This record gives sequence, C-alpha cells and structure tokens, in this order.
Amino acid sequence: MKTTFTWYGHATLGLTVGEHKLLVDPFFTGNPVAPITADEALADFILVTHGHGDHVGDAQAIAKRNNALIISNFEIAGWFAEQGLDSHAQHLGGGFHHPPFGYLKLTLALHGSALPDGGYGGNPAGFLLTTPDGKKIYMAGDTGLFGDMQLIGDEGIDLAVIPPIGDNYTMGPDDALRAVKLLRPKQVVPIHYNTWPLIEQDPHAWKTRVEAETSSKVVVLKPGESLDLDS
Ligand code: NI
Ligand code: MN
Repeated sequence: MKTTFTWYGHATLGLTVGEHKLLVDPFFTGNPVAPITADEALADFILVTHGHGDHVGDAQAIAKRNNALIISNFEIAGWFAEQGLDSHAQHLGGGFHHPPFGYLKLTLALHGSALPDGGYGGNPAGFLLTTPDGKKIYMAGDTGLFGDMQLIGDEGIDLAVIPPIGDNYTMGPDDALRAVKLLRPKQVVPIHYNTWPLIEQDPHAWKTRVEAETSSKVVVLKPGESLDLDS
C-alpha cells in the first residue's frame, strides 16, 4: 500500500494512504509559506491536533467543500459538529480503526488548546497512525518534550513528524534531539519552523546533529514537498 507524506509548511500535513487523503492541521489562509490555497486542498479526513488558530485553520471550509470527516478530541470534534460538520471524537490514549486508512491513536501533547472563538478545546493531542499495512507514523502536534515519548517509541516508529526546531511555542532544537532519542524513529521530518521570524531555525544544522547522535534519518522537506514511505 502506497503511503505518501506531504509537508504544506508550518504544521499542515498531508497523508495519502492508498487512495485515501488525510489532512492534518490544515492552515493555508494566512500561512505565509503555504504552497497551495485552502480552495485547492483535497481531503477525505481532516485531523486536528488542538484548537489553536494555526492548526484549526481552514478545517471548516475544507471539510465542507470536500465532505470530509473531522477527527479530533471530544471537545474540538463537538465544536465542529455544532457547525454542522461531520466529526468523530476520540481522546487521549484512545485508538480507533478507521477502516480506510488505519488505526489512529491520540497521544499526549504538552501545550494549550483554546479554540479561535475562545471556546474550550480540551487537551492538545498528537496522533499515532498505524496504516493497514503496518507503517507507524507519529505526528507529535505542538508539544514540549515529555518522557512518555519513550513509550511511543516502543511501538516502532517508521516516521516521526515533530515540531523540533521551532522553539518558543514548542520544543526547540535541543529538546527535539532528545525527543528523537526517546522516539527512535527510522525517519524524522521537522515541522513548525520558518513560518514567521519568531520560529526561524536551520533544519540542516539540526539534521547534522541528530544524524551524528542517533541512527534516525532526518528528512528536510520544503513546503509542498513529499516523502514516499514505501522504500
Ligand atoms: Ni499551538
Ligand atoms: Mn502551532
């Protein structure tokens, strides 16, 4: 089964599992590095890690136009349902078999989750996806470093997508290196940096450090670039 990961800049991720299209934290409008507009985004499923505006982003408009199912924590799923959208609520530690694309588990994240209208967005999450053919993809969401990344790593991660080097709002480069040591993924893609001057970082310098100190491979993507997971 072909699985392709795409980084759309900031924390906006695309995953194609077989023929099914997932979008994570779709933030195109107002995102200075987005390679496409919200009107061009395609999705069957939209996953939202937490309530902040740079993650909820264009989810509502894209879900409506694509007839997509929104998957998030109970509070955020309910917020979208109130807007008349289809949603599926999960919560931290809980997994569910979404037959088209795999088993999706919500993981801890250390962050906030207030919604753009000030509504209560519950606790922030990350996602651990096991595709139908067994690939494990961990999308950490906005988070600081936490020791339970060791437990997530025990599952055997093929690809970890972490906000490693942005700093200020999430882990910075040093803690992100420690995260990779706990997660032990085969490959890592850094995100949530170079969107604005406040979170400017050098991903190539980070790659050099991580690959010197761990056996994980760091793949530095430009917004709009993809990584095929079927090598
Ligand atoms: Ni956030
Ligand atoms: Mn963020």
